[in-house]
Amino acid sequence: MSTAESTAAAGLRGVVAAQSAIGDVDGVNGVLIYQGYDIHDLAENSTFEEVIFLLWNGRLPNGDELADLTSRIRANYAVPAEVIELMKQFPKDADPMDVLRTSVSSLDFYDRAGHGTDRENATQAAIKLTAQIGTIAAAWDRIRNGKEIVAPDPSLSIAENFLYMLRGERPDAEEARMFDIALILHADHELNASTFTTRVVAGTLADMYGAVTAGIAALAGPLHGGANTNVMKMLLEIGSIDKVDEFVESALAEKKKIMGIGHAVYKTEDPRATWLRKFSKTMSDKAGEQKWYEMSQRIEQLMHEKKGMFPNVDFYSASTYYLMGIPLDLYTPIFAVSRISGWTGHILEQYDNNKLIRPRAEYIGERGLKYVPVAER
Ligand code: COA
Repeated sequence: MSTAESTAAAGLRGVVAAQSAIGDVDGVNGVLIYQGYDIHDLAENSTFEEVIFLLWNGRLPNGDELADLTSRIRANYAVPAEVIELMKQFPKDADPMDVLRTSVSSLDFYDRAGHGTDRENATQAAIKLTAQIGTIAAAWDRIRNGKEIVAPDPSLSIAENFLYMLRGERPDAEEARMFDIALILHADHELNASTFTTRVVAGTLADMYGAVTAGIAALAGPLHGGANTNVMKMLLEIGSIDKVDEFVESALAEKKKIMGIGHAVYKTEDPRATWLRKFSKTMSDKAGEQKWYEMSQRIEQLMHEKKGMFPNVDFYSASTYYLMGIPLDLYTPIFAVSRISGWTGHILEQYDNNKLIRPRAEYIGERGLKYVPVAER
């Protein structure tokens, strides 16, 4: 396509690339909805399992439907033994997001019906993926540390089970609920980079496993899901509250980005950050360690004063997870444990009314060149 015909926006900002009933982000007013429900309402009152049903079906489940989905997910927590054996061959220093990508991709071999793009087969694949992605992330942390894998417990929710498989002991009720809400908050965010990726792949009628694998690859980048780990690395590098001002000033002078700040859509407070700020404070009180929360607050204040910018979902999730004792490089896999619900919801929606996604590029190269044999160049 030539420049004259093009309306290309850098990074496709503001371009509407799909119709979806799953979620909407109002970046001006800081409102996030899933299928019509405000994120604050869902965080206050629902569970992650209920939100999964909502994202896949467009409505909240009744009691029987919720029990049915929950038991189907729990019955699928265990990952095929072949996949665990495969993971044991990986280098112990492999990045957990790379492990997740490759392991999730390999689940495909053990789900014979998983290639179907009809609702029934695709939903069954979505159930397996949603149930097993947390098992893989937790198992990897144990494998790389030379520990026995903790088998999933089908009596536990996705949130409780993940923390249980990671640590070998059950979280207390307060921590489990905070983690459950964190999963709700990260579940969907309209056409973010990874969700858009999954829709593009699903649009070719590739199967659920392929689309989700591509989503994991996209989520791993530092400008997307990778930001939460980088927030914690930044806090650890700064080290103490008295060094925050100098760090922020020199980062801004050098035009470096402060991780966890700013958003492509929100131009006000990210509503998810409101909850995670609260959790960071709660975990600080529980752990008797205020440092990371106080440093985060000071960074937030400075970035607001100097740049008019706000924290995003990754900013306070970093200190929350850190105070839960979760290893830094598992923050992005945890994002995937939640976002799998949004990805699979979008993939199901794409299959329901599929059209191959094939945009155009604005051609900015030369035209009319004539081939010159290599010896004459
Ligand atoms: N720290 C410092 N400056 C920032 C910034 C940050 N975190 N985020 C954006 N800016 C600045 C940019 O340098 C740019 O300044 P300029 O106009 O002087 O060049 C301006 O704000 C606009 O930045 P841009 O990258 O175009 O904004 P965007 O809306 O396209 O990008 C992000 C949004 C999320 C990619 C960006 O804010 C960012 O990289 N944040 C840090 C990474 C992060 O937390 N990602 C997780 C997102 S949920």
